[in-house]
Amino acid sequence: MRIGVLTSGGDCPGLNAVIRSVVHRAVVDHGDEVVGFLDGWRGLLECDYRPLDLEAVGGILARGGTILGSSRVQPAHLRDGVERAREHVADLGLDAVIPIGGEGTLKAARLLSDAGLPIVGVPKTIDNDIAATDVTFGFDTAVGVATEALDRLKTTAESHQRVLIVEVMGRHTGWIALHSGMAAGAHAIVVPERPFDIGELTELVGKRFAAGKRFAIVVVSEGAKPRPGTMAFDEGGKDVYGHERFAGVARQLSAELEQRLGKEARPVILGHVQRGGTPTAYDRVLATRFGWHAVEAVHDGAFGMMTALRGTDITLVPLAEAVKTLKTVPAERYTEAECVL
Ligand code: F6P
Repeated sequence: MRIGVLTSGGDCPGLNAVIRSVVHRAVVDHGDEVVGFLDGWRGLLECDYRPLDLEAVGGILARGGTILGSSRVQPAHLRDGVERAREHVADLGLDAVIPIGGEGTLKAARLLSDAGLPIVGVPKTIDNDIAATDVTFGFDTAVGVATEALDRLKTTAESHQRVLIVEVMGRHTGWIALHSGMAAGAHAIVVPERPFDIGELTELVGKRFAAGKRFAIVVVSEGAKPRPGTMAFDEGGKDVYGHERFAGVARQLSAELEQRLGKEARPVILGHVQRGGTPTAYDRVLATRFGWHAVEAVHDGAFGMMTALRGTDITLVPLAEAVKTLKTVPAERYTEAECVL
């Protein structure tokens, strides 16, 4: 068989582990040929690719990023995107394409699959917000990075008796904020699923100082917003490229809390450091398992499906199901975290 693989959307620790696993399983065990499209869907749409053999994937397991490059180009962005993809799959004699990506990539995968292309998706995102899988690789690494940062920030916050508002990634969901906040013992966790009340937040942090504590750490997801009408807030918007421009919630919260509490506050935006660098062992294992199962799905002709973790097993779910909803932080999970703030 001939299999194409691509990595699309924001990069994520563990992408190289999937590529490596796909090549090992396909080339060594099945005698397949594998090609890697460069920069995500762009490579497929422009027929820009490179052959992937064992040598090409040697030594990449622990490497962050993706050896294939990534972009946010989508087939739907071009009027003839689907046709171009179909043409290039046929020209290259591909029996299957394995796109590895998050929400946007999986929607594109579904579009191509519905148009009759042989697609098996692999989910990835540090945000952990794809509902059809219990966990996405990259999340564990991102939580580890954020937790380490929070541990470090605590000592400087304490020295200066400050409130630090630490913004972590999470466009639509608060998984990274929740887990890193719990792991590091944050004093408040603010997630997009629960628009915050600035009065309540001020009270929560204020109580800490009233109890004699010298500092406070507030973790906030980049997509968090206040309850409507409770605080003047710049909602963000789109940048010149049409990409989402975040509101800078940490900066706005920091200014507001400083004024309301009469305590020095500072915003800290962790940003892309959460996505960079070497994946944790957990993420390498999950990514490797996804790669193995994606190749098996190709050989079983299970197109239009995506690999997913359910409990401890890897299973296949329809792409249609995978892109239906996002996995948000349920109220009870937030309550568990709230108890230890
Ligand atoms: O989807 C992962 C993610 O890391 C989001 O949490 C974040 O909002 C987004 O990517 C930022 O991506 P970029 O700046 O690369 O467009």
